[in-house]
Amino acid sequence: MKALSISGPGVTPYEVVIGRGLLAQASSQITPYLAAPRIAVVSDATVAELQGAGVLRSLTEAGIRADLLTVPAGEASKSMATLTDLLDRLLDLGLDRRSTVLALGGGVVGDLAGLASALFMRGIAVIQAPTTLLAQVDSSVGGKTAVDAPRGKNLIGVFHHPRRVLADLDVLATLPDRQMRAGAAEILKAAMLADADFFAWLEGHVEAVLGHEPAALEDAIARAVAIKAGIVAEDPTEQGRRALLNLGHTFAHAIEVEAGFEDDSVLHGEAVALGCVLAYRLAERLGRVSPKDVRRVERLMGVAGLPTEIESLGLFEADALLARMGGDKKAEGGVPVLILPQGIGDAEVVRDVPVGDIRAVLRGA
Ligand code: GLY
Repeated sequence: MKALSISGPGVTPYEVVIGRGLLAQASSQITPYLAAPRIAVVSDATVAELQGAGVLRSLTEAGIRADLLTVPAGEASKSMATLTDLLDRLLDLGLDRRSTVLALGGGVVGDLAGLASALFMRGIAVIQAPTTLLAQVDSSVGGKTAVDAPRGKNLIGVFHHPRRVLADLDVLATLPDRQMRAGAAEILKAAMLADADFFAWLEGHVEAVLGHEPAALEDAIARAVAIKAGIVAEDPTEQGRRALLNLGHTFAHAIEVEAGFEDDSVLHGEAVALGCVLAYRLAERLGRVSPKDVRRVERLMGVAGLPTEIESLGLFEADALLARMGGDKKAEGGVPVLILPQGIGDAEVVRDVPVGDIRAVLRGA
């Protein structure tokens, strides 16, 4: 078991615990962090079926009053309508300001339940129990919460840090391979933007990570979380350096919005993987990375079973994607602001990328 501390200006320090059996002993992991023995467990229908009863039992046996609230699985639940409904249900349960929300699920549940807990009675505690690899290495850590708007991902949200994050490796055993690969995309992203040694390690170990080898999996999660912890500590509210964590995300969000949120035809991690490849190709055009670096990135994505070509995710018009990129949160006056790599293990925010170069990369030129 590993524990990493997250802190920073304005952040009440909290731990990300990575290990096995954390949800089986949910009450001992959670009880010390409660203001009162009252919890709403927010989950999606799929995760609730697998984990809900066990978590509720552990909490109830410890004398905690716990109720399970579910939302439909999938990105479509990250909506204002679902958020409003969830807040109503928290009120119906009679939760008060000393109650805690336990977000039990992937990134959708974490972002939605995190935002609900931030808004409920002006803010109650949330504990994140991420059940996908992607949520364990990225979305559960760092306090970002959000729902999507029809015109863009994560456009409505606040920063609300959790009291604790429980990244239980056991829950990944039932995660579909496609979801494991999507989660690996955020691990690869962390290495690409901040840690060349970690990238080299992944070139030799990504198959072990995807194959659930316990030591490799725990190391990969801990190293990705440590990178994020370091960046969040410097810039918790994304005034500068934290934007680097969005490597590949401007492309990714455009693809996700164009693909639509109705089904999971494109998973966030798949879009991020492709977005990182596109960011490297763009950086190569701009002379920021070598062709060799781009090939290394493409090769590692390929070994991880992640997309490296737009067509593998669907048919997208380059100009439609460009227009979406101009509507991204980071855009300034409709002009995309991009995170571009500088070799492997370093990246920076770039504001003046010629639109023609972005279009060329989107067209595969
Ligand atoms: N997922 C990027 C961040 O948390 O800042």
